[in-house]
Amino acid sequence: MSATEDFIVADIALADYGRKELDIAETEMPGLMAAREEFGESQPLKGARISGSLHMTIQTGVLIETLKALGADVRWASCNIFSTQDHAAAAIAATGTPVFAVKGESLEEYWSYTDRIFQWTDGGQSNLILDDGGDATMYILIGARAEAGEDVLSKPGSEEEEVLFAQIKKRMAETPGFFTKQRTALLGVTEETTTGVNRLYQLARAGQLPFPAINVNDSVTKSKFDNKYGCKESLVDGIRRATDVMMAGKVAVVCGYGDVGKGSAASLSGAGARVKVTEADPICALQAAMDGFEVVLLEDVLSTADIFVTTTGNKDIIRLEHMREMKDMAIVGNIGHFDNEIQVNSLRNYKWTNIKPQVDMIAFPDGKRLILLSEGRLLNLGNATGHPSFVMSASFTNQVLAQMEIFQNRDKYENTVHVLPKHLDEKVARLHLDKLGAKLTVLSEEQAAYIGVTPEGPFKPDHYRY
Ligand code: NAI
Repeated sequence: MSATEDFIVADIALADYGRKELDIAETEMPGLMAAREEFGESQPLKGARISGSLHMTIQTGVLIETLKALGADVRWASCNIFSTQDHAAAAIAATGTPVFAVKGESLEEYWSYTDRIFQWTDGGQSNLILDDGGDATMYILIGARAEAGEDVLSKPGSEEEEVLFAQIKKRMAETPGFFTKQRTALLGVTEETTTGVNRLYQLARAGQLPFPAINVNDSVTKSKFDNKYGCKESLVDGIRRATDVMMAGKVAVVCGYGDVGKGSAASLSGAGARVKVTEADPICALQAAMDGFEVVLLEDVLSTADIFVTTTGNKDIIRLEHMREMKDMAIVGNIGHFDNEIQVNSLRNYKWTNIKPQVDMIAFPDGKRLILLSEGRLLNLGNATGHPSFVMSASFTNQVLAQMEIFQNRDKYENTVHVLPKHLDEKVARLHLDKLGAKLTVLSEEQAAYIGVTPEGPFKPDHYRY
């Protein structure tokens, strides 16, 4: 790469291959293509400057090109060090969109790439963030607090934070006032995933959200599809590509039975594994039991299970004391957003043998070995290619609508966390029916009136849970 090029990818020569896959993905992403069709001419995102932090995959490539087709300028990084598909990054960079994403980038590179999505060549600011997990938002907000003199950088709580804080200090030294100026310029953020949304609600509760946020995750057509049906396809895909292990007959433990846990348990069960579930929430535990899974304590199945998958979005789920009890060659992986679900750092002193990228065998002092996937980072994107295009089309159509909503109607929104209205959620679903040959029944006026809706919808009250 020459110093003047405004992108960092593994190999720009992969662009042709990436473009072929983008062309195929477009045929499976009817929601995004319909958005281009409906809004391409009116250019509702003209003037939008979007900093995107979301797994740089082929599907994300179609999202980026949709945002651009609607008039936006875009800069992009991945939200995980292992999730980039290098051919996708190359194809997007080759069109002139600044992309900073390499599969297997270091943590230092990760945070410097996050910084780069805010560094416009004309020195201007971004007015929108499209985030997945909240890292891009957090980068700006923590930086701005540090510039205001708050003591937020002196005590990093982890190696990750140490690297993040170093990057913030570097930017503060190079561009005084950068974070405050950038924060002020932001109209808002749209957030993709459960973990990022949790962070936003915490910020809002603490009075620290300086702009409105749209919670894309809790559109029904996102979390009840991507988190569930997406993981149903991509979890086993990741385990197979990593290990080629025979799944049928194995005992698999899924920690957490929320949307991702439900999809993950279905994935393993569909592959013939005997699935057990751990849960903290009695409602989800009851769902797991009634879906036919044994609900257990992790402690009780450590020595008998072959595969362990965390899906909780919570920390310290599989700890060192658990891994000590597991059987030889047990497979351990996580599909939740962050890598703190498994205590990977506690294994660092043991003997690691790298089998191939994102697959490690770790030998304990007594000779027992574990197979660890993606160093505890989300394995469906680290060991495979994430969810299929079709389900990501639903997620990303919500993202496009959310970006448009904030850009056009920012003043209607208070500085808190919002979800898209139900009629848009239903619209996203509607856009995906034709592709599956699904035919929708039309309610008569009488039928609609009888159940208290209109024939055009919305068809459910907001409290309905699907
Ligand atoms: P959720 O909130 O629906 O489910 C998480 C479940 O874990 C809850 O039911 C909770 O009670 C349970 N849980 C929490 N602590 C537990 C513990 N100590 N032991 C057992 N269960 C526990 O969240 P959702 O939507 O399922 O997301 C989970 C994670 O996956 C989040 O980090 C989210 O961001 C991420 N995610 C990852 C995707 C991927 O492609 N890898 C796709 C979508 C979400």
